[in-house]
Amino acid sequence: PGSTTPLPDDDLAVGGVPLTELADRFGTPAYVLDEDEVRHRCRAYLRAFPDTDIYYAAKAFLCRAMAHWVQEEGLGLDVCSAGELELAVTTGFPPERIVLHGNAKSPEDLRSALRLGVGRIVIDSTSEIARLAAAVPVGNRQKVLIRVVPGIAAGGHAKIRTGTEGQKFGLSLADGSAQHAITRVLGQPRLQLVGLHCHLGSQITTVKPYLSAVRRLVGLLARIHDQHGLALPELDLGGGHGIAYRPGEPALDPVGLGVKIRAELAGSCAAAGLPVPRLAIEPGRAIAGPSGIALYRVLAVKQTGGHTFVAVDGGMSDNPRPALYGVRYAPRLVGRRSLAAPAAVTVVGRHCEAGDILASDVPLPSDLRPGDLLAVPVAGAYHLSMASGYNLVGRPPVVAVTGGHARLLVRRESLADIQGRDVGL
Ligand code: LLP
Repeated sequence: PGSTTPLPDDDLAVGGVPLTELADRFGTPAYVLDEDEVRHRCRAYLRAFPDTDIYYAAKAFLCRAMAHWVQEEGLGLDVCSAGELELAVTTGFPPERIVLHGNAKSPEDLRSALRLGVGRIVIDSTSEIARLAAAVPVGNRQKVLIRVVPGIAAGGHAKIRTGTEGQKFGLSLADGSAQHAITRVLGQPRLQLVGLHCHLGSQITTVKPYLSAVRRLVGLLARIHDQHGLALPELDLGGGHGIAYRPGEPALDPVGLGVKIRAELAGSCAAAGLPVPRLAIEPGRAIAGPSGIALYRVLAVKQTGGHTFVAVDGGMSDNPRPALYGVRYAPRLVGRRSLAAPAAVTVVGRHCEAGDILASDVPLPSDLRPGDLLAVPVAGAYHLSMASGYNLVGRPPVVAVTGGHARLLVRRESLADIQGRDVGL
């Protein structure tokens, strides 16, 4: 990420604090969040998308401080569970600036959302409509959007593509289920349909799919207008903006995206004779990802079967992304200047399976040894939020850095934490 500063002895500073100091103070593995980078990225979105509701997608990473930062910067929040929602609200996050998602919202999710008064709920299925309406207190009207599947293939991996038919999210435009749901929602006096939503997928690196989505959703808005005499005031295009995990990889620039989406929206609406709805977006990865760094200590090095394996003290329990999506990272040695030539090594974790690989065949100094510190940049999104308790290895802490100071945001999960939940025997 742009926020690191090189220091002597091949150390790196983030937020003005050397990574070696952070590793000594907080232990490893540890996740470091650059508060200024988070705030800077929020501001970049606000500039790139004027007159837009920008909801930070909490699923990328959430803790109290993160919620507080994005709220201070003027963003809303996209949540998909009572857990995310309630954590955010404990920081004073205004519920009306929160949107609730989910293809299978639990009774607890809906209870929390309605009790706290979330601004918007995005309907993902037909069966949810009556269930939600029945849960809304008499005399209230809950603002809702309908999640539409526009039939557009985009996204960095098959598992994170959600704009096409044949996956579990949303209601299809092509087979009419979206239109059917719209009619049903309009018949519910306790629901107020304010707009349409779509989320094409994640780690999308080109603008084109978003423009196609705008055209298709405006087409649906026009049909709703013809059929029901209603101009829906909101259009939420979800998130999915891709980032570079390694130098030279493509990323989606919010500025270009903002300009093109807004132009397409204005043009499509003018052509359809519709007023331009208020735009919303839900970036997660693009805000959190480049703001985080993972720190690991090397525990073992071996040459075997023609490979050099460098084993670290974390792995797939804190970063399942290489195993799930084949994502490639660029780890680097920190805190020691090595004159050894780079060699292709495979950085593996400590977990009990061969697929526990953090980075295969990456160039690192050939003299790596136990005790060395490795940093994995671009680790802020979908690492800890997808962390597991595999092998009863506690989850790493989260540390915030800014202005030369570090502070603990989330403490390391201890053996006592793990054993404390186990109340059987
Ligand atoms: N809005 C909705 C409705 C979503 O489902 C998501 C992500 C977002 C916004 C934010 O997307 P982003 O801007 O972060 O791409 N675990 C996967 C990513 C799954 C994304 C799920 N939904 C990964 O590690 O790549």
